[in-house]
Amino acid sequence: MKIKPIVAGNWKMHKSLSEGVSFVDKIQNRILDKEKVKVIFCPPFNSLFSIVDVLDGTSLSVGAQNAHHESQGAFTGEISVEMLKSMGVQYVIIGHSERRHIFGETDGWINQKIHAVLNGELTPIFCIGETLVDRQMSQTNEILYHQIKLGLEGVESIDAERLIVAYEPVWAIGTGETASKDQVEEAHGYVKLILDAEFGHSSSEVPILYGGSVNENNASELIQTAGVDGFLIGGASLKEDSFCSIIDQVTNYYKG
Ligand code: PGA
Repeated sequence: MKIKPIVAGNWKMHKSLSEGVSFVDKIQNRILDKEKVKVIFCPPFNSLFSIVDVLDGTSLSVGAQNAHHESQGAFTGEISVEMLKSMGVQYVIIGHSERRHIFGETDGWINQKIHAVLNGELTPIFCIGETLVDRQMSQTNEILYHQIKLGLEGVESIDAERLIVAYEPVWAIGTGETASKDQVEEAHGYVKLILDAEFGHSSSEVPILYGGSVNENNASELIQTAGVDGFLIGGASLKEDSFCSIIDQVTNYYKG
């Protein structure tokens, strides 16, 4: 693997401010070789600022789980990219399946958010993935194609600094059911093909993460799967031992 691997933890709506801060502090002390992995913590909004503060001066980064596409206005409950940036946040998860399926985010809305994040010079972690029904109906590639095409519409160029893609099959998120090595390899290969067709050479180093029930028992096999540049992790990113074990496994495999 040539691209420095990424391990991103999506905490969803978990951990209080004090729990989050002490968790991050412990993890950063346990990562032995910070040069070989990019670790991104994505806590809920409550603790973003304090976690940026704890990680100041380290190579570990902080991402938000969502952002509104407008810079300000009457949008109760929302937060803008500028606000995140002013807190020191560097990444924003966009289009997570829970945002798409529970909160009704459409591809068009996701596209506006992608533009807002890019214009704000933060990096989107752009999530895509098929549902179980899509897969059963052999529509996985079609779904991935449409999500990428619509989500990135109007984006002129992408590169490793400007975009991270996370392939997360919806049926594997939080279910304990991980996609097989072959399924992951095929999907990541297809995503790379689409990015190359749409954006050409500059897309070749865009990291493509896998997400969906990654844990300390399957991380090693998954990180060695062709086309996998790291993980977006939910449940296992909340547990100190599991998250550190995954980081160690990813680090061991990176020879860069
Ligand atoms: P999971 O969640 O690791 O708990 O399956 C992944 C995600 O939602 O990004």
